[in-house]
Amino acid sequence: MEILKMNQNHIDQIVEMENLYFSDPWSANAFHSEMNNPLALWLVAVEGDRVLGYVGSQTVLGQADMMNLAVRHENRRQGVAQKLVERLVQELSNRNANILMLEVRVSNASAIAFYEKMGFVQVGRRPNYYFKPREDAFIMRKEWTI
Ligand SMILES: CC(C)(COP(=O)(O)OP(=O)(O)OC[C@H]1O[C@@H](n2cnc3c(N)ncnc32)[C@H](O)[C@@H]1OP(=O)(O)O)[C@@H](O)C(=O)NCCC(=O)NCCS
Repeated sequence: MEILKMNQNHIDQIVEMENLYFSDPWSANAFHSEMNNPLALWLVAVEGDRVLGYVGSQTVLGQADMMNLAVRHENRRQGVAQKLVERLVQELSNRNANILMLEVRVSNASAIAFYEKMGFVQVGRRPNYYFKPREDAFIMRKEWTI
């Protein structure tokens, strides 16, 4: 498995995963515009032509927000997300960012366990942040020294 910057060839498989794993999936167009967004950094974990997982971020003034993160169901608990987030932190450090924030559904126990394992801490809660179904978000934050 290798970690690469997202390119056009990955988008179909990423959208397929968005539709499988999220109730408010991003469209292919949204990913195409991220590729032209200078604030955005998206990484994919690939094995040959197959995308196993992906993560995205947008950075403003040294602080990054994590956008979407998902790993194929059949490839979970193999360290794929861990490798993606570790590489993301490394790449963000290279861009002089040292804070990564994210929102996660309060019911998403596996993602919360993953983020805690990666050193994120809960710093707040946004009521009714999500739709389909309506639900609160925990805000989580990770900070490191560059
Ligand atoms: C959250 C998600 C990305 C984790 O991906 P993953 O590749 O399976 O995670 P990793 O294998 O790198 O996990 C690293 C560590 O995180 C923790 N972890 C990951 N998934 C976990 C789970 N379901 N339950 C408890 N701990 C978990 C464990 O400590 C794990 O280490 P271990 O397997 O040695 O015990 C994956 O479950 C997923 O795609 N979920 C659906 C989409 C989603 O909810 N995304 C987040 C939206 S905010």
